[in-house]
Amino acid sequence: MVYVKPREQHQPKRYVNMNIVFFEKVRKILLMNEHTCPWWLAYTFDHRIRRLVHKPESILGPYVKPGTTVADIGCGMGFFSLEMARLVGKDGSVLSVDLQRHMLEILEKRARRSGFGHLIRTHLCTPERIGIQQQCDFALTFWMVHEVNDKQSFLA
Ligand SMILES: C[S@@+](CC[C@H](N)C(=O)[O-])C[C@H]1O[C@@H](n2cnc3c(N)ncnc32)[C@H](O)[C@@H]1O
Repeated sequence: MVYVKPREQHQPKRYVNMNIVFFEKVRKILLMNEHTCPWWLAYTFDHRIRRLVHKPESILGPYVKPGTTVADIGCGMGFFSLEMARLVGKDGSVLSVDLQRHMLEILEKRARRSGFGHLIRTHLCTPERIGIQQQCDFALTFWMVHEVNDKQSFLA
């Protein structure tokens, strides 16, 4: 007598993409499971080469006019805040908001060095509340909404 394995026992093998598993593990170790971009990681994207892809003057130019008050929410080290200060000029102001104090400290240092320190005011917020009272003509939330827990309330 010949024994034939029932069909259901011939299950296809499940393959796991080890690259994805590996990189996800590394990402979790580096970011310490946090969803917020750590300050030191910002050095990898906040530099001159980024200007080839994200041209701040082209992105902001149509919206940020001389003499206006603008906000950069989730400003990081100020890649856009500095350009915003240049665009609003001496009669405008920039409010740079982030929930990491160290990001704001680096931005303040950069702003002083660039000569725009007097136009940029920094504000430390919390994950739940931006907490600025000032009215703004324009607000930028560039590459940060993905880090916000309650996106719906944030954008409401
Ligand atoms: C990937 S970085 C981008 C920084 C900057 N917008 C840029 O384009 O270079 C995201 C920044 O958003 C900040 N951030 C995350 N969640 C935030 C929140 N709920 N409110 C304010 N800032 C937040 C982080 O601290 C970090 O500095």
